[in-house]
Amino acid sequence: MIVREMNIDDIKKVKEIEDQVYKVPWTNTMFLNEIISNKFAYLFVLENNNEIIGYSGVWIVADTATITKVTVSKEYQGKGLGDILIEDLINRVKSVKCAYVSLEVRVSNTKAFNLYKKYAFKQVAVRKKYYNDGEDAYAMVKYFKDGEDYEETYIGN
Ligand SMILES: CC(C)(COP(=O)(O)OP(=O)(O)OC[C@H]1O[C@@H](n2cnc3c(N)ncnc32)[C@H](O)[C@@H]1OP(=O)(O)O)[C@@H](O)C(=O)NCCC(=O)NCCS
Repeated sequence: MIVREMNIDDIKKVKEIEDQVYKVPWTNTMFLNEIISNKFAYLFVLENNNEIIGYSGVWIVADTATITKVTVSKEYQGKGLGDILIEDLINRVKSVKCAYVSLEVRVSNTKAFNLYKKYAFKQVAVRKKYYNDGEDAYAMVKYFKDGEDYEETYIGN
């Protein structure tokens, strides 16, 4: 099992999984733009015996990171592969000294919410009607300090 950078040839298989698992899937063009045009974007695939069974994505801008994708193919869900993808992303953003990593998740997506909670992401806001179909999102954040998890505490008035 390996996690490696996604390339253009991977898009066909990734898009099959994308259509299978998301209500509002990314288009081929969106994946392509992330790979060739967006200099802040990084996409990865999880491969088992040369078969793509998951993928992940993150934007890194200066010392801030935003997770754009964590996806496991339907038939492989519930087997610990989400753990592998999120741990890989956390290690990558830590290694480039990000101060925090954030994400949005559908309020109905209990699996993903639990996955992020397991890795000490904190729910910090509800974004009303964040998705095209009108569903709200939870905004979640995980802070780092000196390469370690850091509990951000507001101490102002
Ligand atoms: C969310 C997703 C990435 C999780 O990956 P997975 O391989 O199924 O999850 P794992 O088997 O690695 O489980 C990791 C953790 O996720 C949570 N989780 C997984 N399945 C769950 C379920 N059926 N119910 C509740 N929580 C669940 C748990 O916290 C679990 O940790 P635990 O096993 O120690 O309890 C995967 O289900 C997926 O691709 N879903 C569709 C796409 C998606 O919604 N992505 C997130 C967008 S924000």
